[in-house]
Amino acid sequence: MNTQPNRIIIFDTTLRDGEQCPGATLNVEEKLTIARQLARLGVDVIEAGFPYASVGDFEAVQKIAQTVGVESGPTICGLARATRQDIEAAAKALKPAAHGRIHTFIATSDIHLKYKLKKTRQDVLAIAEEMVAYAKSFVEDVEFSPEDAGRSDPEFLYEVLERAIAAGATTVNIPDTVGYTTPTEFGGLIRGIKENVPNIDQAIISVHGHNDLGLAVANFLEAVKNGARQLECTINGIGERAGNAALEELVMALHVRRQFYNPYFGRPPESEESLTNIDTRQIYKTSRLVSNLTGMLVQPNKAIVGANAFAHESGIHQDGVLKNKLTYEIMDAKLIGLTDNQIVLGKHSGRNAFRSRLKELGFDLSETELNKAFVRFKEVADKKKDVSDWDLEALVNDEISQV
Ligand code: KIV
Ligand code: ZN
Repeated sequence: MNTQPNRIIIFDTTLRDGEQCPGATLNVEEKLTIARQLARLGVDVIEAGFPYASVGDFEAVQKIAQTVGVESGPTICGLARATRQDIEAAAKALKPAAHGRIHTFIATSDIHLKYKLKKTRQDVLAIAEEMVAYAKSFVEDVEFSPEDAGRSDPEFLYEVLERAIAAGATTVNIPDTVGYTTPTEFGGLIRGIKENVPNIDQAIISVHGHNDLGLAVANFLEAVKNGARQLECTINGIGERAGNAALEELVMALHVRRQFYNPYFGRPPESEESLTNIDTRQIYKTSRLVSNLTGMLVQPNKAIVGANAFAHESGIHQDGVLKNKLTYEIMDAKLIGLTDNQIVLGKHSGRNAFRSRLKELGFDLSETELNKAFVRFKEVADKKKDVSDWDLEALVNDEISQV
């Protein structure tokens, strides 16, 4: 677990909030496969699920806690509403983890209080305090979220956060649950929290945001400038409605523009030290794995991991790139684990190279699937000089669906 305040903690919620999108349901084995890859990617915290929500979720969190939540591994987190039964289920599922975290939440916006919870602000204050303390009786590491913080009265928010921290919350997470805020507003909200919550230095400020206006990543970058040190995100930005802030976009923005962000972490601008613990070369592979297992396609023009993210179509751009890549590329494709020009295999490539490239792309095929896909690959390679990652992916998806 990254406790260094001069680094960003990457909290991945692909398996919890990410899975909360239509059609993205994963079974326990698939969740375990993704969790293992998230550990390889280097995320600090994996939110593995919502244990009270279903038997499958409980089992997945427990298995991930057992197998990925080892001493040298990431913190494993389970979500719980601010109720005793949710917190007990999360504590039980997380028990095998070397580093377990309970993430408990209750809404704080007036609209949620009036229509959803039918509770007063005083009720919410008391519940938040009591349930954080209850979670703390099971684990040291407790995260508290005031849901819909982006539309909550800041003065009330300060009070809830102060009480949650006093009750033992070690991370306070500020969710823009409905993706309503703009970057200036969200940055200001984090600054206000830093300035007005008296015990804020006893907790890490985290942010969580949805992409309803396409602003989640921009909001987080403003939050970082104002003191947020944990970012909650998902691979490929999957999640409720328009999704969550995308991990690959945040990590690469902080990497490519580190000279700009370094001073906010007390570093000289020219420092080359990474601002996250992420192994960026695992990004592409993780993106493919999540897309393949959830069935959520990645749009071709998606930043960082889309099929066109490193492709150059216009003659002027191609000419420039051939003379010097820096003319039209702000990062090297190899940084995210792609091979140069996305050209990998040709008709002379053998089975092993084929199998290992597919593994890198996130496909773990059975022997039957591999055999069929290899035959098809040879047919394509005979017609095309080079078989790109995108060709490989298309042909494998075709073959698997026919096995
Ligand atoms: O969007 C949200 O508010 C959430 C909370 C549970 C953190 O997902
Ligand atoms: Zn969310």
